[in-house]
Amino acid sequence: MEDYEKLGAFYLGRPYDLKNKKPKDGILLYDSRDLVTHAVCVGMTGSGKTGLCIALLEEAAIDGIPAIIIDPKGDLSNLLLTFPELKPDDFLPWVNEEDAQKKNLSTAEFAAQQSELWKKGLADWGQDGSRIKRLRDAADFRVYTPGSNAGIPVSILKSFDAPPQTIVDDDELLAERINTTATSLLGLLGIAADPLKSREHILLSNILGYAWKAGKSLDIAGLIQQIQSPPVKTLGAMEIDTFFPAKDRFELAMSLNNLLAAPGFASWMEGEPLDIQQILHTPEGKPRLAVFSIAHLNDAERMFFVSLLLNQTLGWMRTQSGTTSLRAILYMDEIFGYFPPTANPPSKQPLLTLLKQARAFGLGIVLVTQNPVDLDYKGLSNAGTWFIGRLQTERDKARMIEGLEGIASGGLKFDRNEMEQTIAGLGNRIFLLNNTHEEGTEIFETRWDMSYLRGPLTKSQIKKLMDPVKARSAPDSAPAAAAAAAGAAQAVPGAAVAVATETAKTAGAPRPTLPPGITEYFIPARGSASQGASLIYHPAVLGVADVGYSDAKSIDVSQHVSMLTPITSNPIPVDWSQAAVIDLPVDDLEKLPDESGGFADMPSGASKAKNYEAWQKDFSTWIYRNQKLDLLESPSLNVASNPGESERDFRVRLQQRAREQRDAATEKLRLKYAPKFAALEEKKRRAEQAVERETEQASGQKLQTAISFGATLLSSFMGRKAVSLTTLGRATTAARGVSRSMKESQDVGRAQETVEAVTQQMADLDAQFKEETAGLDKSATVQTEQLETISLKPKKTNISVKLVTLAWAPYWHSSEGQATPAWE
Ligand SMILES: Nc1ncnc2c1ncn2[C@@H]1O[C@H](COP(=O)(O)OP(=O)(O)OP(=O)(O)O)[C@@H](O)[C@H]1O
Ligand SMILES: [Mg+2]
Repeated sequence: MEDYEKLGAFYLGRPYDLKNKKPKDGILLYDSRDLVTHAVCVGMTGSGKTGLCIALLEEAAIDGIPAIIIDPKGDLSNLLLTFPELKPDDFLPWVNEEDAQKKNLSTAEFAAQQSELWKKGLADWGQDGSRIKRLRDAADFRVYTPGSNAGIPVSILKSFDAPPQTIVDDDELLAERINTTATSLLGLLGIAADPLKSREHILLSNILGYAWKAGKSLDIAGLIQQIQSPPVKTLGAMEIDTFFPAKDRFELAMSLNNLLAAPGFASWMEGEPLDIQQILHTPEGKPRLAVFSIAHLNDAERMFFVSLLLNQTLGWMRTQSGTTSLRAILYMDEIFGYFPPTANPPSKQPLLTLLKQARAFGLGIVLVTQNPVDLDYKGLSNAGTWFIGRLQTERDKARMIEGLEGIASGGLKFDRNEMEQTIAGLGNRIFLLNNTHEEGTEIFETRWDMSYLRGPLTKSQIKKLMDPVKARSAPDSAPAAAAAAAGAAQAVPGAAVAVATETAKTAGAPRPTLPPGITEYFIPARGSASQGASLIYHPAVLGVADVGYSDAKSIDVSQHVSMLTPITSNPIPVDWSQAAVIDLPVDDLEKLPDESGGFADMPSGASKAKNYEAWQKDFSTWIYRNQKLDLLESPSLNVASNPGESERDFRVRLQQRAREQRDAATEKLRLKYAPKFAALEEKKRRAEQAVERETEQASGQKLQTAISFGATLLSSFMGRKAVSLTTLGRATTAARGVSRSMKESQDVGRAQETVEAVTQQMADLDAQFKEETAGLDKSATVQTEQLETISLKPKKTNISVKLVTLAWAPYWHSSEGQATPAWE
């Protein structure tokens, strides 16, 4: 039964016979890749939507796919209630005491009953504790609680950070980002703002846009300050003070300040930053299912947070490479109010953009709602998979059918009458699956969830779940940063501070004049002086080079090297072995010094133009002798890390690579087995008919199914996948040949024998298929395998020095004579 886990297929349930109200043979597998075109799940309350989606998320976890889970009701934290031993004691702390009382049972008795229920429920679906263990081992599970310390708190501070360059460079995306941030922030203040008319909105948008375009981040304090004294003097054609008088701006600033000062608001500021790349995997690179529980928030806060989270996800997504395999899931349990057809809340725009663009990046979006009338159908027409459960009202049904019909016009076959009848007949946990990647629709019953569905967890239960996690992660809160250094250029040991200051003065000399032929730049000073410190520029040489590294196999990478070393009055004025790495884009160098800055003495060597040529040569030689690049290599995939890529990020990337390879391999298998499978299916159908005829003649009554072939993994795997037309063509020809020979042998007495033969052939084909799938999936391997380190030295010809120049390095000189770099 477990073989499907190697195929990237999600086990969601069994096909269901609606007419006879019973499950059919086999299992319902959903191809993980189909989820990159997103899924929508609808059904009335209690129809089993959350249960279905928990199964889907469990399958994703087993497959190593991380998820961002937005949980407005508190049900999804049930994903953390998984007990491999299924003991009553495991259930005891989590059972719902009211449910126990209703049944007149003690809590312990009820827990025992629930443990039995789960054991049996799972067994009925071919699952047991070992699969639960597999689930727990496959991923990390966390509950985040924005605005509360019950679970892992989330800091929203970073959310006003300048978005990644890919977004800043895209006018439309930047405008969207600014718009949603402004709207959701104003929403939090209780101001429902029209982006075009509201002056508050226009002002905030301008402030955010101004900062972000300059690559600058804002915090709320900075925002308050800029509302009072905006960075721009006019808005459109109007003076800012006419458009939005200072007095009124002060009021807006005050209400923002009150928000900041409110006692509860502090919890929005502490905790983990909303950094999607860090959230989706652990520091070791294990996938994570991150449940964002927002049940405790009020409506405005929820909208604010959901919009921020969607925006952050959008920003993260843009930094990912393209893929056709599923990389991550964004799940939202109840989108009522967040994606309405007519209104425009701040969550809507990012959701629309995600639905349109996430596919290319392998981000699958799953949206759930009770009432399809609440949804923006245009946006949802991007969804490739529909799970339709019981619907309550005629209006919902009509609307659902109307919507599906609209979507179906894209080429999907859709029979209105059939659909009406089907939807009317669905029961709880019975869903209609409509998947654009498959032919026709399928009715199925959802499998039993491994997670214990106790219903919404209370705050104190969430606390109990997350306290151990918080305790564990407290001491090593910065492992990711530490890991990021791996694979980076080898910095020179002991050169943390580049420019050694000989005599730290508190007041500098005036700026020296330089002879022609020497260019000078100024490293920008950051931060502000502490009490009594003054800014002094010291002469240094900045060397910038691109260094290429390659090996005999496939590695061919280039690394940017940027080093700073002081110019001294020693016999050797510039010694590259004293240089330190400086993280400064060349474009950031300034042509003029800071007005308040003085200058240290300039050694005579610094004013000889010829020296710089020599120092350039020295720099090149120094790189050749000293630089090396350590990269990691995965033995199983034969892929090396990129320069600067941390081991964690490398392992995350390897997992995606492994999934892509597996998906390509399964696709090949599907094509390979399609003709053989179709031929056997045809044989089976004929054999079934023959047996039925025989039984009918013998007993005079028609039996529903006289025989059962039993479902093979292969038949579930093939599902209703649309395999290419040519292979199908070949398959039917083969099948026709078979049926002719069947006719000849249709001696009723031999029908049973044929059945046995076909069953055997199917079993053989299935075994062959299983054997081929064995080594398919390496995504778990690459998560933990021992990586090899390859150390590369540059070739002389691969060193390209871009710049060696006099660079003035600013230092803060304290009154005690201590000098500290001012550019870090
Ligand atoms: N896959 C499942 N395995 C076990 N129990 C299930 C499953 N699906 C549903 N149930 C049971 O049915 C109940 C209702 O299902 P569920 O919570 O999924 O409904 P829903 O459609 O999400 O309803 P709502 O719209 O009110 O959230 C669950 O609390 C659980 O007891
Ligand atoms: Mg639900």
